[in-house]
Amino acid sequence: MKNNLEEKFKEFEEKNKKADLGGGPERIKKQHESSKMTARERLEALLDPGSFVELDKLVVHRCTDFGMDKNKILSDGVVSGYGKIDGRLVYVFAQDFTVFGGTLSRANADKIVKIQRLALKMGAPVIGLNDSGGARIQEGVQSLGGYADIFHLNVRSSGVVPQISAVLGPCAGGAVYSPALTDFIFMVEKTSYMFVTGPDVIKAVTHEDVTKEDLGGAMTHNSKSGVAHFVAEDDVQAMMMIRELVSFLPPNNMEDPPVKSCTDDIHREDEKLQTLIPSDPNKPYDMLTLIETVVDDKHFLEVQPHYAKNIVVGFARLGGKPVGIVANQPAHLAGVLDINSSLKGARFVRFCDAFNIPLIVFEDVPGFLPGTLQEFGGIIKHGAKLLYAFSEATVPKITVITRKSYGGAYCVMASKHIGADANFAYPTAEIAVMGSEGAVNILYRDKIDKEEDRQEKIREYQDTFANPYRAAELGYIDEIIYPKQTRFKLIQALEMTHNKTETIPPKKHGNIPL
Ligand code: HXC
Repeated sequence: MKNNLEEKFKEFEEKNKKADLGGGPERIKKQHESSKMTARERLEALLDPGSFVELDKLVVHRCTDFGMDKNKILSDGVVSGYGKIDGRLVYVFAQDFTVFGGTLSRANADKIVKIQRLALKMGAPVIGLNDSGGARIQEGVQSLGGYADIFHLNVRSSGVVPQISAVLGPCAGGAVYSPALTDFIFMVEKTSYMFVTGPDVIKAVTHEDVTKEDLGGAMTHNSKSGVAHFVAEDDVQAMMMIRELVSFLPPNNMEDPPVKSCTDDIHREDEKLQTLIPSDPNKPYDMLTLIETVVDDKHFLEVQPHYAKNIVVGFARLGGKPVGIVANQPAHLAGVLDINSSLKGARFVRFCDAFNIPLIVFEDVPGFLPGTLQEFGGIIKHGAKLLYAFSEATVPKITVITRKSYGGAYCVMASKHIGADANFAYPTAEIAVMGSEGAVNILYRDKIDKEEDRQEKIREYQDTFANPYRAAELGYIDEIIYPKQTRFKLIQALEMTHNKTETIPPKKHGNIPL
């Protein structure tokens, strides 16, 4: 019986200390030796100093099987609560690998669910730091139920509050589906991996030999599968990158993204842009140069920089306002649209639309990629996703055609017809159904024998269509601008669209071609 205050406070202090130590010094040492931070260290790096408020620190599991009733550790393998990033509220949970391998019990699933519910109610982002052996085997279906509760809330929260996941250790089996349901996934080189079935199961079923790293490491998911969006060198860098991402996002779908005061001259013109686009339409150039030259302080946070490089997506600011940029990249596969780039673009466009982030589109696209691989892979339905996403988006949409805008790709890349609010083109723009050679070959298939006549027809087609003027005559392009004017023109268009309201017919939800 503890009678005096001193003893009561001591008991409280000891419990706190115990919880802070997680699985104990040995396991913390092991965690550090694996180049990983502990859950609490990660949260400290992620949040503004002193801002973390921990909830459910004294929770323990309720399992009695397999001797678990004699093995309880405070916090039960997940550290959760809320804190601030740049003074703005975020909800967080970090799985603690030092406690039962960070595995999911019923009790710690309830902690995560509590965070998700609070975030929904208060309208703030949820950041989940994953490092876990998956379902806690001793708890059986209770653990699976916990996962399903988390998945359900992931889906309910989708498009309401931003959800960000970092995978900082193992993430296997069904556990991968919580990160997959969130908006962005960060991974860390060499320490994180995600897969539905591991190398041993794969070996037994398909006889393939594959390492953990090749199967589900950070670069696999950042460059091959497109599952992840960012890769960091270590945990600290991952936490810094999450802070940067959050700085562009509103706390929820009812609020605008945070405007920063802009010290970069909004009238700034860069002569370098005048010659960036080569006069030879077959020559590539780097679209990133254009983006970085135009945006505030040359600061562009590229999303999925290693995946489907023929399209560039990411966040920047113009005149202090966050924008989402979608741009074809002529320096990679000539900027063609294919399955992967359509998926990458569509998902990003939908995120921006859900969270009131205006879209800026830089277009230089020769069309959709031809070939059986693309057709058999379903380029029709995947390309349709990008078309659907742009058409559906009601945020301000501003398009700049820098060079090629051919065929279906003209329609897809935020054309006037699918609701763009401001459409610009450079004098170098070419807007037509297809390239001049292809067009002449079809139009004059059996009508021209001599090569010089064919060349003449190609020149004629080029003179007629390989420019922005036909589209401008029809009002499909609002204004032809010099490349060096791009920054100011975009900022003006953003101001013009600031109070945009556009309603869509009431419906339960659309049926995006999945
Ligand atoms: C209970 C587990 C556990 C699990 C690990 N541990 N996985 N306890 N349930 N699933 C415990 C270990 O016993 C150990 O406890 C501690 O966590 C650390 O694990 P180690 O094996 O020592 O660490 P390491 O060598 O780094 O290997 C980590 C690992 C490995 C790769 C994650 O533990 C592993 O393969 N675990 C099983 C993973 C798994 O199959 N999970 C189920 C996936 S299916 P002590 O006390 O010794 O420190 C799934 C379904 C989800 O999750 C479905 C959702 C719908």
